[in-house]
Amino acid sequence: MHPHVITKIYRILIVVFISSSVHGQNRKITSSLNPGCGECSNSSTLVYIRALGAQDTIHQIWDFTKHLPTVILVVGSINSSLSIQWDRTVPTNFAWSELPLYSFATVIDSLYEYDDLDDSGSFDPRRPYKEYRFTRTSWALEDIVLTDKEVMVQMHGHINNDGLNGVVFIKFDLFPFKDYAAELPHLIHTANSTQVDVSLERLAVSREYNASRFAVHLVLASSEDPASTLHYVMRKSLDDEHTPGVFEIIEIKTPSLFDGQDGGYLQFRPIGYTARERNVGSSTMAHVSSFNRTSLPQRSTVATFYKKQMLLVQDMVVSFGDSSDGFYRQHNYTAWSFTMGYGTPPVESFSVFVVAVITAGLTVPALLALSGVAVVLRRRWARDTLPTRLTNED
Ligand SMILES: *[C@@H]1O[C@H](CO)[C@@H](O)[C@H](O)[C@H]1NC(C)=O
Ligand SMILES: *[C@@H]1O[C@H](CO)[C@@H](O)[C@H](O)[C@H]1NC(C)=O
Ligand SMILES: *[C@@H]1O[C@H](CO)[C@@H](O)[C@H](O)[C@H]1NC(C)=O
Ligand SMILES: *[C@@H]1O[C@H](CO)[C@@H](O)[C@H](O)[C@H]1NC(C)=O
Ligand SMILES: *[C@@H]1O[C@H](CO)[C@@H](O)[C@H](O)[C@H]1NC(C)=O
Ligand SMILES: *[C@@H]1O[C@H](CO)[C@@H](O)[C@H](O)[C@H]1NC(C)=O
Repeated sequence: MHPHVITKIYRILIVVFISSSVHGQNRKITSSLNPGCGECSNSSTLVYIRALGAQDTIHQIWDFTKHLPTVILVVGSINSSLSIQWDRTVPTNFAWSELPLYSFATVIDSLYEYDDLDDSGSFDPRRPYKEYRFTRTSWALEDIVLTDKEVMVQMHGHINNDGLNGVVFIKFDLFPFKDYAAELPHLIHTANSTQVDVSLERLAVSREYNASRFAVHLVLASSEDPASTLHYVMRKSLDDEHTPGVFEIIEIKTPSLFDGQDGGYLQFRPIGYTARERNVGSSTMAHVSSFNRTSLPQRSTVATFYKKQMLLVQDMVVSFGDSSDGFYRQHNYTAWSFTMGYGTPPVESFSVFVVAVITAGLTVPALLALSGVAVVLRRRWARDTLPTRLTNED
């Protein structure tokens, strides 16, 4: 290899090394359950998180009070603060100390059951399907963590809606630093993001459908030009070290982010799981529909939050399965994870192990080349100096 190329690769490796050892920009987080609510029992769940950074504060609202699992992410100045007014156990107003700079929201408002007649795995709106909205699902708190190292809620909702029975589990999780999630597909979280896990368990499929699969319907909103559009970007990663066999990373980018500024995003792998034990064997494909323009769900927390604000609002459907996998009833379980965040979506870096292997692979030939050069130089030096010394001594 040409020495120039080797130096270049070394330089890249050093940059990768440094950027992976600096843990991004960390934030100081404080969190509370149902802040300002006098009458809330443990049957209402609204978690508010304030993540203070060096230049700004990111506020997050995780809400289940109006039945539709919601994450609202708001960027404000360092001193910005939020107070929430309640009517008994329902938030009625979100009052800011100053106008927020940016916001991005995701609502998981319904499940789709589709009859996958051509067994392609993915949802096709031209085929029969039913939409089950979460409007009447009541969510129960299973687990909650509100510390300065992690904020997490885990909820389950019993679905009993037009004949659909079963359980949906949703978990929101935030850490104030950058790292890979412990569980597959090992998505990267940062201090600016929340990881969302959804699992659809023991759903009874419709009798009319012989090829039922389930999909989740997401409504995405951002405080950007209502006429602009979200962007779907598929990226290939350099290696599949963190998610065996999967090289693709999907990012849904808001227009500002797509234009090179900071903005909201979703990030995930095109993969779901058909068992609680996540591994290569229990993985299945996740398919993303195109976006459609829509409006905020009625009587939702996002509608209360945004009031009449002009927003970009689009929806999408994420469906799961692969041809000839036996459909949903084969496992009666489907799970999927994504992160939702602000800034620029994190990029996976080489791990220390991979860096070590690459470094060894480059160092050995480099050392060999150098020793070759040294031998040549030494010989040349010996040849050049010998006669001089002899003449000097003469
Ligand atoms: C919620 O409150 C009820 C009654 O106060 C209690 O029995 C139950 O254990 C609580 N659940 C949780 C998850 O804290
Ligand atoms: C934030 O508040 C603190 C104390 O009230 C003040 O010293 C600081 O200047 C404020 N910063 C900004 C950016 O307004
Ligand atoms: C998007 O809207 C079109 C037109 O209304 C509709 O046919 C299609 O099913 C929608 N797509 C999704 C994924 O809902
Ligand atoms: C499902 O039923 C339809 C007719 O109702 C049939 O054409 C199709 O082959 C069936 N699919 C499977 C996977 O059994
Ligand atoms: C899934 O549930 C259906 C009933 O809804 C049942 O017939 C089927 O055996 C279940 N499959 C598994 C793998 O448990
Ligand atoms: C987090 O957001 C800040 C701006 O609020 C941005 O400067 C920073 O790059 C973001 N961090 C990540 C990891 O995206």
